[in-house]
Parts: sequence; structure tokens; C-alpha cells
Amino acid sequence: MRLDKFLCDMQLGTRSQIKEAVKKGLVSVNGMPVRSPDHKLDEKRDTVVYMGQVLTYQNLYYYMLHKPAGVVTATKDNREPTVMGLLSDAVGKDLFPVGRLDKDTEGLLLITNDGDLAHRLLSPRKHVEKTYYAECSGMLTADGIASLECGVDIGDETRTLPAKVRRISQSADSYALELTITEGRFHQVKRMVQAVGGSVTYLKRLSMGTLTLDPGLPKGSYRPLSEKEIADLKASH
Ligand code: URA
Repeated sequence: MRLDKFLCDMQLGTRSQIKEAVKKGLVSVNGMPVRSPDHKLDEKRDTVVYMGQVLTYQNLYYYMLHKPAGVVTATKDNREPTVMGLLSDAVGKDLFPVGRLDKDTEGLLLITNDGDLAHRLLSPRKHVEKTYYAECSGMLTADGIASLECGVDIGDETRTLPAKVRRISQSADSYALELTITEGRFHQVKRMVQAVGGSVTYLKRLSMGTLTLDPGLPKGSYRPLSEKEIADLKASH
């Protein structure tokens, strides 16, 4: 790999800023200052030091975002604020959200530039579990729960796959539940609740596969995934 690409991938500045820094002798490889940006290095073995700091090569980045309502799950949008706007100072090129939450849905969103992992998490064949907390108007009957657990007709060609349901509360005309689904159909949770005679008034994603929303992460904030969270996601999907 070229030295300037290494430094660019590490987000140490624009390509021209990086070239300038290299020419000034601010970068050393294996203890020797290197002044040519096209110097070839082995990113796994060579020790690169930039202004006194040893750089460990990384080009894949993983973040957990606590999505607030009111932002769209897109990398760009001409009219609406996007989730990526909340990560404007995050390190990593070509970051994107894995999957989609509706504008009014809150909760866990994985943001990465690891296309392979994203592909595996979203593949319909992998049946990755996603758990949502939903507040709904209406009544959730035992029949309604049984339907959600067996699979319901939401107007698509096929019924939904069996879901896990945990009723949290029920009052005269509203209820809360946790629903775990293994597909990612358009507005799936809202349509499943509709299919059993209710209407979602608040929706939050709590987990996706092995990744769980950090309860200490404020709404609208993000943090890098821990090594363990990344390893668990990669190992299980
Ligand atoms: N199901 C929905 O209806 N909306 C979401 O945002 C996610 C799942």
C-alpha cells in the first residue's frame, strides 16, 4: 500500500495535506523519515509514526447510533436531516447505515463502512433478529399475540415469519410490547401491529443480532463499537 493511501484511510487529512506532511518529513516508517508519498509499505508489519504517534492501520469502522425521531435513515437527503449528519465528525470513509429505521422510529442503528458485514446482517437468508419496543393504541388480545407468534398477513405475498412477543403492559385502550422479528420488510412492525388491530404510536429498536443499544448512549449520540461488539457481530452472522 502507498504511504499516502495509508494516511488517507486513517483520515489524517486531505490527500494534499497528507502529501505536504510527508514531504516535510513528519512521517517515519520503521524509524526512518520517509518523504515520498508513494513509498510502498506493508500496512500489517511496518511501523508508521506520524508526528510522534504510532498509527495502527484501520480502514473499517463501526459505530452505534442512538437514532432520534425526526431524521431519515439515508446518507444524503436534499430536504430532511439524515442520520449521517449526526456522525459528521466520525472517522471512516464511506460510512453508511445498516438497514433502515423510519423517520419517526428511534433506537439502535449500526453505522459502518464494512460492506461484507452489512450484507450479512441484512441478508434475508440470515434471519438476523431485531428487537423493537413498541407503544400502541388498541388492545392486544391473546389471539393477536398468537397471530404475531405464528406469522401474520400484512398484505404481502407471504405472511411474516414467526415473531417473539413479550407484552409489557395493557391498559383500556393502549399497550406496550417487545417484538422480535427476523425479516426487514417495509414498515414491518407497524404493519404487524395493524394486522392484529392496533396502531404503533412509538417505536424504538433495542437490538440487532448480537448488538444491543447501549442504555448509557443519549439519543442523537453515537459511539464506536467495542472490539467485543465487533467480534460478536462478525462471529455470529
Ligand atoms: N418496523 C417499522 O415499522 N418501522 C421501523 O422503523 C422499523 C421496523
